[in-house]
Amino acid sequence: MPFGKATSIACSNIAFIKYWGNRDATLRLPLNNSISMNLDHATTITTVAFDAALNDDEIVIGDQKANAAQRARVVAHLDRVRALAQIETRARVHSRNTFPMGVGIASSASAFAALSLAATRAAGLDLSERELSILARQGSGSACRSIPAGFVEWQAGTSSADSYAVQLAPPSFWDLRDVIAVVSTTEKHVGSTEGHAAATSSPFLAERLKGLPARLARVRHAIAARDLATLGSAIEEDAIELHMIAMTSRPPIFYWSPGMVRVIQAVHHWRAEGLGVYFTLDAGPNVHLICEARDANAVAARACEIPDVLQVIVNAPGDAARLTEEHLF
Ligand code: PMV
Repeated sequence: MPFGKATSIACSNIAFIKYWGNRDATLRLPLNNSISMNLDHATTITTVAFDAALNDDEIVIGDQKANAAQRARVVAHLDRVRALAQIETRARVHSRNTFPMGVGIASSASAFAALSLAATRAAGLDLSERELSILARQGSGSACRSIPAGFVEWQAGTSSADSYAVQLAPPSFWDLRDVIAVVSTTEKHVGSTEGHAAATSSPFLAERLKGLPARLARVRHAIAARDLATLGSAIEEDAIELHMIAMTSRPPIFYWSPGMVRVIQAVHHWRAEGLGVYFTLDAGPNVHLICEARDANAVAARACEIPDVLQVIVNAPGDAARLTEEHLF
């Protein structure tokens, strides 16, 4: 099969029901199903070219050579692709985000979704959406949800072969917005891989898992009915629960910051005034403000008035991971 170059763009996603904890950390098989929305303004673009002249993989993220930890994870993913394609050729990988990395906007989701599509195409493979989702999952769990378009559920499954994401509704189905209130752009101290591993040490994890089937059903129903109040109450509960599990892990992981709490308090205040907006959080300090498109300007303007908020990024439901001819090299 001829080697080529391929470039892909993938959206990050915001989880409405969080993935937190694995039953198999190596294969990234999760403890529970999760549901998310792709984010059209938080994307990664990645170009991959396999090149027989290379002695080693060459990985550039942003404008810099990948650090050791980033490199190990990308090379491991390229190895998965090489195994599928039955090749040993090394690759050149350039990747760029449209948003700051490591701040609770899931950069690993868009990164491994984009890498999966670009690397498989560059290696001459043509995987189905399901196969790509399974591959992306092994790079970063949440990346499997950035393969399909729009509103997506990752089915935990029983093995690697049936643990992948499927679309619940296309992007056009519900004109929802995620206004990300960025309160910090510094790298988080504890990555989600460590967080997943620590989750089982929380005495509250079993309680969370018991309640999740009902909450997942609520979120599925809320999406199907475009019911923001139902979605909003479920996502706020789930976000708080994610952080409660993190904080009660041994040792505890604390992602909260004063700025984050001030934004959450403001959301309660705005809602009391009649604005339809709900918050969710990731494993980082930023707050995702979920609202209808018609309220996004008002939500963004109010968020910008909070001194802790450095910038807002307004996202509509995003597309599937896709190929582009705009190569980075
Ligand atoms: O895909 P990971 O390993 O970065 O984990 C993502 C974890 C959360 O962002 C906190 C929740 C989620 O489901 O996206």
